[in-house]
Amino acid sequence: GAPVEVDLAPISPGQIVKVFWRGKLIFVRNRTEEEIKAAQDVNLASLPDPQPDSARVKEGHPNILVVYGNCTHLGCVPLGNEGPFHGWFCPCHGSVFDTSGRVRGGPAPINLPVPPYTFVSDTKIRIG
Ligand code: FES
Repeated sequence: GAPVEVDLAPISPGQIVKVFWRGKLIFVRNRTEEEIKAAQDVNLASLPDPQPDSARVKEGHPNILVVYGNCTHLGCVPLGNEGPFHGWFCPCHGSVFDTSGRVRGGPAPINLPVPPYTFVSDTKIRIG
């Protein structure tokens, strides 16, 4: 599949947009300062799939989180800004994800994966 470019300028802090790449749903989230801090302020040992937030975003762009949009349990689409960690909540069987897209509860075995992408300018990414 061809790469997909996403213009970040219209995505306000706190907003999540959905795009498709190679037929897969992708969430692009512009995180607020509070959401970034929550994602960074975590005891990694407490995570089912331990990954620092810094490994899931690009250096210099901590506000932009890009993750696949299907629950890693059985593929439902989790709801954004929901659940106890205000990341995502999967309505199918109750998996909980934080503002880094990491699983924090429920049956999902792993974090929402980050697809390959690069910043082509300060306000534009290319997925793929
Ligand atoms: Fe999300 Fe089962 S598909 S919890």
